[in-house]
Amino acid sequence: MYRIASIGGDGIGPEIVAEGKKVLEAAGEKYNFDIQWTDFDIGADRYIHSGKLITEEEFDELSKFKAIYFGAIGDERVKPGILEKGILLALRFRFDMYVNLRPIRLLHGVETPLAGKTPHDIDFVVVRENTEDFYVGIGSRFKKHEKKELNVIRDIYSVKFGLDVESDAEEIAYQIGVITREGARRVQTYAFDLAMQRKKKLTSVDKANVLSDVYGLWRDVFTETAKSYPDVTTEFNFVDAVTMWFVKNPEWFDVVVTPNMFGDIITDLGAMIQGGLGLAPGGNINPEGTSMFEPIHGSAPKYKDLGIANPIATIWAGSLLLDHIGEHKAAAAVVSAIEQSIRDGVVTKDLGGSARTTKAGSYIADCVRKGQ
Ligand code: IPM
Ligand code: MN
Repeated sequence: MYRIASIGGDGIGPEIVAEGKKVLEAAGEKYNFDIQWTDFDIGADRYIHSGKLITEEEFDELSKFKAIYFGAIGDERVKPGILEKGILLALRFRFDMYVNLRPIRLLHGVETPLAGKTPHDIDFVVVRENTEDFYVGIGSRFKKHEKKELNVIRDIYSVKFGLDVESDAEEIAYQIGVITREGARRVQTYAFDLAMQRKKKLTSVDKANVLSDVYGLWRDVFTETAKSYPDVTTEFNFVDAVTMWFVKNPEWFDVVVTPNMFGDIITDLGAMIQGGLGLAPGGNINPEGTSMFEPIHGSAPKYKDLGIANPIATIWAGSLLLDHIGEHKAAAAVVSAIEQSIRDGVVTKDLGGSARTTKAGSYIADCVRKGQ
């Protein structure tokens, strides 16, 4: 018996999580475990009506779970950043989910925009650092007359660029990226361990040629960590180059480890090469604490309640959840069932089918039960 928390969230979130639950329950029937869900009403609606994002009581409650199943957040009625930072990033940071695991795998029967590439060529995992870098939230924005902070920035500018900020700049904004030795080491170690279970190749992404302080540290830690993994072949890629190679030679990659912000960007690219955002799952993992599994796409408010959203990314995220709690056979069965539904053409419109969201989900659940 597993106790799992669920947060449907906004837009299409609740609909796709409902399908994911169906499939995980079917996996439980087939592989002999039960899931007891605890639903949390967190999202835009509640925020608009009560001003609450996540309360301390909810953080306390959620901390008792090993896994949270998460839909999506984001709503046109709320200014961008409030829900993202106040809910999604708050959960990632509060529970120190330092690994964002994003498989980039082309399933059989799915079309990729990359000409001539097959499922054999597109099968790697991005391990995105999830708690540091430009996501730490240190920054500010102010105008010329707002002296207090200007003093700090004026010093930085004059030392670094010899500029007189007060007369040269009308308004200034800055944001600071932070990498710590410990933060880099733990996520890179996770990536090396993962590479050991796969094809033993690990690519590190950075921009150490320009942002040489933060990513210089990231690189140093990588070089040191690599010494404990002599069997893993390693390489460094600059982030601009890695986007090119993802498109040209995706077959080169096995495990890719990346700082937070570059990871955000390159996994949207990854999602497209694996057939679209409707197919891309992610896991926010704290190996010792509470982890959270979600599709990497957003809440797609314009598709809300139309019954056309593709539930596959969320169902696949459910498979990552099962893997995380140790139900490896069930996890693999869920991915096979997704592939079966694609082979049988029982898929939503974005994948060329005509199935409604609930039909696509139920079909995958049935495939899991039948063990096809
Ligand atoms: C993602 C999303 C989030 C991120 C946003 C919604 C805060 O784009 O999960 O990739 O930037 O991490
Ligand atoms: Mn993103």
